[in-house]
Amino acid sequence: MIDVERQRALEAIATEVRACTNCRLHETRTKAVPGEGDPETEVVFVGEGPGFNEDREGRPFIGRAGDLLVKLLASIGWRRDDVFITNVVKCRPPENRDPQPDEIAACAPFLRRQLEVLDPAVVVTLGRYSMATFMPGVRISQAHGTVRPIDPATGANLALAFAMYHPAAALRTPAIERESYADIAAVPATLLASRERRGAGASTIPEPLEEPVPSTDDATPEMTLF
Ligand code: URA
Repeated sequence: MIDVERQRALEAIATEVRACTNCRLHETRTKAVPGEGDPETEVVFVGEGPGFNEDREGRPFIGRAGDLLVKLLASIGWRRDDVFITNVVKCRPPENRDPQPDEIAACAPFLRRQLEVLDPAVVVTLGRYSMATFMPGVRISQAHGTVRPIDPATGANLALAFAMYHPAAALRTPAIERESYADIAAVPATLLASRERRGAGASTIPEPLEEPVPSTDDATPEMTLF
């Protein structure tokens, strides 16, 4: 898809999200938060669900967690406009409670369709609800900073998932913040690995990678996305 078509397809999904009444979260939302970013990006960040500020503005990750996400991105030389940022659920759960399984299921088709349009090489999961979508059955304490092939049923075909803690957890716990900076340093190398894998026409059947992509010196922090 060319740029303009992607933009249009993403806008069409966003329009549906803003009018969605498929689960109870629409009853308490101020604004739905479809997601935003570069339609041509190779990297999509997926959080959990909008918080207070996001619900008011209709934009993802614009509060304190978003500020930290921007700092994490800056640490590898990326800006939020270089990537696409969205969430597992597009409407704020009341009082920032965890999203319920039926709410996640009701919203899943929107995320799947966004990923089909964006066709990213890498999906970075932020927190355990996002991780559960792309890396089912793993624990975040073990899986953060590691990579798995993504099941194409998610909408992301031939892509790699990279797990990170949620920035809100990093704001609460300095050790998690430090680990998050270490983890994101491996994202550029993950993008390179995914590009190579896509170029090599790897099987679309998900299979575990033998080694997680390490955060080594060959992950050039200043590398640009394109
Ligand atoms: N936390 C999330 O998971 N998503 C947002 O958009 C904001 C905070």
